[in-house]
Amino acid sequence: MNILIADDDPVTLSLLSSRLCAWGHTVHQASDGNAAWETICRTPIDMVVSDWIMPGLDGLQLCRRIRELKETGYIYLILISAQDSKADIVRGLESGVDDYITKPIDLDALHARIEIGARIVNLERRLNRKIEIITANHYQTIRMFSRMMEVIDDELGGHCRRTANLAVQMAGRHPGVGDAEIPIIETAALLHDIGMVGIPKSILNKRRTEMVNDERQLYQSHAATGARIIGEIEIMKPAALLVRMHHEQYNGKGFPDGLGGDEIPIGAQLISAASIYDNMIHKGKITLDRIAENLQRIRGYQLSPQMVELLLEINVAQQYDLARKMEEEWELNDLQPGMVTAANVRMKTGAFVMAADTELDDHSIDKLKHYHNIGAITNKVLIRKSSMRS
Ligand SMILES: [Fe+2]
Repeated sequence: MNILIADDDPVTLSLLSSRLCAWGHTVHQASDGNAAWETICRTPIDMVVSDWIMPGLDGLQLCRRIRELKETGYIYLILISAQDSKADIVRGLESGVDDYITKPIDLDALHARIEIGARIVNLERRLNRKIEIITANHYQTIRMFSRMMEVIDDELGGHCRRTANLAVQMAGRHPGVGDAEIPIIETAALLHDIGMVGIPKSILNKRRTEMVNDERQLYQSHAATGARIIGEIEIMKPAALLVRMHHEQYNGKGFPDGLGGDEIPIGAQLISAASIYDNMIHKGKITLDRIAENLQRIRGYQLSPQMVELLLEINVAQQYDLARKMEEEWELNDLQPGMVTAANVRMKTGAFVMAADTELDDHSIDKLKHYHNIGAITNKVLIRKSSMRS
């Protein structure tokens, strides 16, 4: 264990240091509270053995500062004091101290208590490692679902993946979004249209104005259906809420709940904005030079002014335009795993085959060759130059 001893009495400091070294620990010394705090800020410390009364920060103040630290692992705290009244001990423990030893120090008791502290610190480390593994598995599972959507419906999966990338970019620039919310927004964006799986393409390909009543109802149900599917997992409930709200509009005319303005959580507004923008670019109905004009048209209606500003600031259309200058046509036989498609691959009939920004692997290259062999696509695919091996 890395143990910091803080005591203004040089004799006690020296005695405790030599004993703790003898017990196999790495010892750091501080002769007052401020020096102790500086050491904690610049060195990984597992445990602090601190005197209560010290110049500068006293033991309790030091303890309170340590408990406010968010970035470090748990630091086990043993307070040493001549004060042994029940009220003093309670006050110490209430400040976040883990254990309390009174002077004169019984070294055998101190040794035993340090061993207890070491067990707790080790348990906390193991617990944190498990949480990291569980969190990583959670996000891998989400990405697996997202990939599965892409296997079932390339166009839909590609849209969700690109929407997630853009929503995360926007979230990073939005002052109201904390770091902890970004994975929730990414999760919801990756799965935001999962409720569309199973709705016939003949309906999804229609303009909203062309849909008859039943078709519109079925289409609109995808937001609530998607939220219900992913909301069955407890940890996914915050993301499910954003999925439910990704078609709400700033003017209150969206669905399913007709929320408007600030009633719509920022995460849902970001996903909605990113999804609308991705459709503008990739559904090809609007030319890139008219994206800004179209965004201004929905400003204050579908999207809040702030969302439109964010989209214009990021200017994906320009990035996309630049990327298009950085692409090259490749024949199917020359494709290699790792290359990234620069545009949606479509059949000669216009039907969808593979999404833009798909990283090719052996399976996807075989799929393209198969479509070519049956005469459905040409022998050439647009590839991003940046993904080509030199
Ligand atoms: Fe949607």
